Amino acid sequence: MLELNSICKQHETRGEPLVVLTDISMNVERGESVSIMGPSGSGKSTLLNIVGTLDTPTSGDFVIDGDSPLKMSNNELARFRNRQIGFVFQDHHLLPQLSAIENVVLPSLASSETSGAIERANELLDRVGLADRKDHLPAELSGGERQRVAIARALIHRPKLLLADEPTGNLDRKSADAVSDLLFELQQADSCTLLMVTHSPTLAGRCGRGFEISDGRLLSVANRVNE
Ligand SMILES: Nc1ncnc2c1ncn2[C@@H]1O[C@H](COP(=O)(O)OP(=O)(O)OP(=O)(O)O)[C@@H](O)[C@H]1O
Ligand SMILES: [Mg+2]
Repeated sequence: MLELNSICKQHETRGEPLVVLTDISMNVERGESVSIMGPSGSGKSTLLNIVGTLDTPTSGDFVIDGDSPLKMSNNELARFRNRQIGFVFQDHHLLPQLSAIENVVLPSLASSETSGAIERANELLDRVGLADRKDHLPAELSGGERQRVAIARALIHRPKLLLADEPTGNLDRKSADAVSDLLFELQQADSCTLLMVTHSPTLAGRCGRGFEISDGRLLSVANRVNE
């Protein structure tokens, strides 16, 4: 499903180039859930943004379900990202002037596949327990509720790949547990592939496989679920 081959990333700075990722290779099967941990600044978000086609590697390449995003034109890439990839960020990134349901439907406005989007958005909001909050603006929702809307939005197109960057980082323990339960439940229901960056060992432990980024490299860590 996902194949990364020797991904390197360095940022140009005024001084020496800053090497963030030196040689990242990994294979992830369809439906797998994978956690990525590592200290602040180790390159976790950088890696997720590269896989999510929001950033490009300095060298190396990768394949998502047989497609090579690095070979696509900007238009192809925008369509591909919109259709195949769902993002959940630490901050929900909801548009403040749109209601919960409008935020969930939004990605489908950018694609030609609008039919059924409102139905699917309604169904997803029901599934994330927000049936009676659909018309609330983000400011009228709690942090955990906003994050649940963001999960629904990420799944509107049944993406093959779900990328989550500290999805529960801003939540209290109880909301974090509820949001992560939901994330895994929906990931399994849609059998999409989940790549999750987290600082929480508990959350990482719920993923099928675990990795850590250290000195720009990806280290496999024990699968805590089966320990
Ligand atoms: N555009 C940029 N130019 C220069 N350096 C950058 C740029 N973007 C990120 N960096 C640096 O790259 C490194 C990796 O950043 P990244 O955001 O991937 O870290 P992270 O592992 O996600 O950290 P955190 O856990 O704090 O979110 C950091 O040291 C950061 O300062
Ligand atoms: Mg980060």
